[in-house]
Amino acid sequence: METPIYDFLRKYADSETVRCHMPGHKGHDLGLGSALDITEIAGADSLFEADGIIRRSERAMSELYGTADTFYSAGGSTLCIQAMLAAMKQEGRTVIAVRNVHRAFLNAAALLDLDVEWVMPDYTDGILSGTIPLADIGRRLAETPNACVYLTSPDYTGRMADIRGISAICRRYGAPLLVDSAHGAHLHFMPTDLHPITLGADICCDSAHKTLPALTGAALLHTSSERYAGVLRQCMSLFASTSPSYLIMASLDLCCGYIAERIRSDIELNIMELDRLRRTFADRTDFADGDPFHITLRAAESGYDGTELAELLRRGGVECEYADSGLMVLLMSPMNTHEDYARLTAALDGALGAVGRREPRSDGIALPLPRRAMSIRDAVFSPSEEVPVTEAEGRICAAVKVPCPPAVPIAASGEVIDRDCIAAFGHYGIKTVNVVI
Ligand SMILES: Cc1ncc(COP(=O)(O)O)c(C=O)c1O
Repeated sequence: METPIYDFLRKYADSETVRCHMPGHKGHDLGLGSALDITEIAGADSLFEADGIIRRSERAMSELYGTADTFYSAGGSTLCIQAMLAAMKQEGRTVIAVRNVHRAFLNAAALLDLDVEWVMPDYTDGILSGTIPLADIGRRLAETPNACVYLTSPDYTGRMADIRGISAICRRYGAPLLVDSAHGAHLHFMPTDLHPITLGADICCDSAHKTLPALTGAALLHTSSERYAGVLRQCMSLFASTSPSYLIMASLDLCCGYIAERIRSDIELNIMELDRLRRTFADRTDFADGDPFHITLRAAESGYDGTELAELLRRGGVECEYADSGLMVLLMSPMNTHEDYARLTAALDGALGAVGRREPRSDGIALPLPRRAMSIRDAVFSPSEEVPVTEAEGRICAAVKVPCPPAVPIAASGEVIDRDCIAAFGHYGIKTVNVVI
């Protein structure tokens, strides 16, 4: 019998590749074998009615993050995003969202039939990243009664939004601020606390599995507000499996111990290594600003092709998180070691030396908001067909089809695909789209 998945994983583990990608445990053994994989037996508590061991662990995590409450998710940030948006749905709020959302947001908007008003970032790194115009958020809030604001920070490149500034605007209008901090679980423990909850978010999610030593699927849903503490767990249970993995929950429990005992010193050591690496290559490359654990090489601006560099790194025993022609993202975590950085430095030096440096170019992208023809939900649940991108002009986007990572939409469901969208699909190598029939 073939075992293609297991074989791939075994081979990758045996290759001892430097993992510059999620999950944040970087392949270190967390001691979570199948003997610990149980179900809700007596004494084991139950995630969606937690009042025993799970609740104790969640409360310990909440104290470490300084939140009003924190809930465990074994369904990643995806489940947390569904839950926070369901809480907004219960309050009948319009969601004002900054456009570079992850696909998880769009899927949740379809399931919940949300009304979404978009704010476009000033894109500078393809469709992944841009600065958020605070004035636009204020203007939208002034025009939209009973709204909330949703944004992604850090985004896929590690860029961090001005959460303090945006939260001040939200407070002026009585709008809750929701932050997808899937990439930011470590931020509370940085030398300066940069976590969204500290900076003023009302609800936020962290994918513990992305930047902490936790199993894939482990995430945290935090709130700074007692008002939402009472509803978020029930909202989560709407979408979650009724058999959440105890291994994933146990990895969050172990993470608590790691955070309490070691994370700050590991972060300090990693920041030294990250500074050294950036200084080593400063004269040859342009690194994007933001969270230090995201090493985002602005390949286009530095005169390289990100995909080419990623391939060369792979041959040098380093696997990156994401690459396209304009960018290469290496996602590190507090679990990375001195040896990882030494091997990464050697591989990057080799890769940059092997490719010729071309004329630097801008990776900015002009992507005006396409016209909306129907709601996200109606488009997702309409009959649809897959057509070549080149034949899609004027058609309505059905289910969003974007590569994961980075899973950021070019056209959202319900929007009319125009020439700018087609150019952007081409840029990201997307050859077909789902359109409403
Ligand atoms: C910005 C962002 N938000 C949300 C998600 C979904 O998180 P998860 O994989 O933990 O469900 C991802 C996944 O990559 C992401 O990059």
